Amino acid sequence: TLSQTVFADKPSANYDEAKAPSYTLPDPLIDNSGKKLSDVSEWKSRRREILNLFEDQVYGRIPAEATTCDVEVRVVEQTDDALQGKARRIQFEVAPLRNGKPLFRIGVLTYLPLTDHPAPCFLALNFFGNQSVHADPEILLNKNWIGNKVDGVVDGRVTEAARGVRSTRWDVEEIIGRGYGLVTAYYGDIDPDRHDFTDGAHSYFYSEGQTAPAADEWGSIAAWAWGLSKIRQAIGENPKLLAEIDSERMIVFGHSRLGKTALWAGAIDPKFAMIISNDSGCGGAALSSRAFGETVGLINRQFPHWFCDNFNKYNENESALPVDQHELIALCAPRPVYVASAQGDRWADPRGEFLACLHASPVYELLGVAGLPADKMPMAGTTMSTGRLNYHIRPGGHDVQAFDWRAYLTFADRLLPERR
Ligand code: GCU
Repeated sequence: TLSQTVFADKPSANYDEAKAPSYTLPDPLIDNSGKKLSDVSEWKSRRREILNLFEDQVYGRIPAEATTCDVEVRVVEQTDDALQGKARRIQFEVAPLRNGKPLFRIGVLTYLPLTDHPAPCFLALNFFGNQSVHADPEILLNKNWIGNKVDGVVDGRVTEAARGVRSTRWDVEEIIGRGYGLVTAYYGDIDPDRHDFTDGAHSYFYSEGQTAPAADEWGSIAAWAWGLSKIRQAIGENPKLLAEIDSERMIVFGHSRLGKTALWAGAIDPKFAMIISNDSGCGGAALSSRAFGETVGLINRQFPHWFCDNFNKYNENESALPVDQHELIALCAPRPVYVASAQGDRWADPRGEFLACLHASPVYELLGVAGLPADKMPMAGTTMSTGRLNYHIRPGGHDVQAFDWRAYLTFADRLLPERR
């Protein structure tokens, strides 16, 4: 399977704790001038500093015109009789606008519980098109290019055989049964996952004569995160969708590269109520300073389009990083954040993901809420029942499994704000 062949340990990486470099993490509570924060009122400007560093050095700045652009919604299909009568399905398109004209369209699939009030929802991008999420024959087939290899995708195009090919990663029935909705879109609708900046979201926002983002401008992860924020914005402005989806209780979720994306989306868009990162690893929840498993140099060379060009300065040079990934989690504070790892996913550095949560905790505490309720890595297969930061490591490999979904749903039950 994909997870065994592509995501197994890579021989070039270090997997020996004894060989991990010693490092000192930047302190989220010491500002750029070296002053220690003494009061919660100082967090707002410190948060800006950290956000700026991530924008300049890691993910790249999103052009202002993209951040502020309006969006248009077009509902394409809808039924109250989906999933054997258990769910409402709405398929719609979100288009970012310039001068009132749609630039491109993102196809969104929504499953909702049949409740009489707007449902809290998980918003998540997918790797293989919406039709990969469930075998439901009514899901519209994706028409865009898909680079990732999976059954039913032939020469980069989806065929009927690509229905439900990733359904094991989406516990749709469980999500609906527990009163939540699922809102999902294919990440390639926003920006195709290839090293080519002539296509996708970037290409619509260049200044005159520009053909690629500048060294501090957005890479693909930032573009995907921007797309998530635009979908949230579109739902929040559309009366029809607002009647179905509780836009104030949207949980942004993602796996792997899309887990990196979910964290960055939570950082740039404070309207996401909760953030979940599943096996996100390097450039996601894992501390870059540990250089364990995938490193900054390895990821930048294999995926040169994911981060901004400035991130290359830290290839094999982690000690020069002015920020590390615990501060990405801290940018989401005091909102609830869940980080999950898998034992077999050493490439993503489970310990580095745990430590990032631990070192984000002081920011939660400054803001008056409980952070991570543990200072040692938990046993595999166990979950935590207190704290606004949660972490688990489950047995198995790089994947999203029923265990993960159940933990996220329980976390959401406990910590999503009350419905207004
Ligand atoms: C590769 C990459 C990881 C990424 C993963 C995925 O393994 O090195 O950084 O998380 O793909 O997106 O599945």
